[in-house]
Amino acid sequence: MSDDARAAAGSRPDSAGDPSQAWLELAPDYERARTKEDSLDRLVEWPAQRELLGDVTGRSVLDLGCSNGGKLAELVHDGAVASVGVDVSANFLGDPPAGVEFIRGDLSELDAVPGLAGRTFDRILFLQSFGYAKDPVRTLQAARAMLADDGFILLTKTQPIRYAVEQAEQNGTSLGEEYFSTAPFSYVSGWNEQITLTKRPYTISDLINVFSAAGLWIETAIEPQLSEDARCRYPHKQEWMNKYLGILIFKLRPHPGP
Ligand SMILES: C[S@@+](CC[C@H](N)C(=O)[O-])C[C@H]1O[C@@H](n2cnc3c(N)ncnc32)[C@H](O)[C@@H]1O
Repeated sequence: MSDDARAAAGSRPDSAGDPSQAWLELAPDYERARTKEDSLDRLVEWPAQRELLGDVTGRSVLDLGCSNGGKLAELVHDGAVASVGVDVSANFLGDPPAGVEFIRGDLSELDAVPGLAGRTFDRILFLQSFGYAKDPVRTLQAARAMLADDGFILLTKTQPIRYAVEQAEQNGTSLGEEYFSTAPFSYVSGWNEQITLTKRPYTISDLINVFSAAGLWIETAIEPQLSEDARCRYPHKQEWMNKYLGILIFKLRPHPGP
């Protein structure tokens, strides 16, 4: 889901250089925002992610950075089997359906996550969570090694242009200066104004190069938008999308070979 609110000063920074730590506190706020009727996750992102996943009957799913696991529970309801959700915050649904297992773990250290050793999955998801990987290529390589035959990875990222627009407004600079900047930047979370998130900047070519380095190719890329109906019902969301564009969704397949 896009973090679509800007806020004022006086926030608490995320813990000592590890943005994942902020999620120990942020997780319930995120879920509250996600379930609002006008959240972009409900209106745009999850419908597009779900469509790209297609029929999941009999497919095993690994959701990395699954938050409370609500999306995984829906997939199991739709027929997915033997599925696992991993999240650092462990703010999981209290009563997961049969076929779903939740594990507290770090997507930067997939080889060390208890319960994943030796397992493979038909679908591996990084939905707005990949940015927390300390070494993105290593994390994607570890995920690729867990793909079953004919499996794919579904990975979503915020449009980097959004951050460039925000940083340019904040710093009185230009879009290009911010888009091509390599310095990490911080911003107050729209889900809890007490928490500041730190991001590494990235360009579209950075993302493509990371996929390549991890031995993956892009089968499909989409930039989902509001439906006509949602545009009429939630014009403030269309205004936000007009300015910040939304998210990118990639369906990634492994190149054959090591
Ligand atoms: C923006 S939320 C996205 C949640 C969910 N995938 C969705 O699409 O609604 C990012 C999630 O990544 C999780 N996360 C952050 N750092 C992580 C890490 N190092 N390992 C595992 N999960 C992490 C957070 O706890 C949070 O649930």
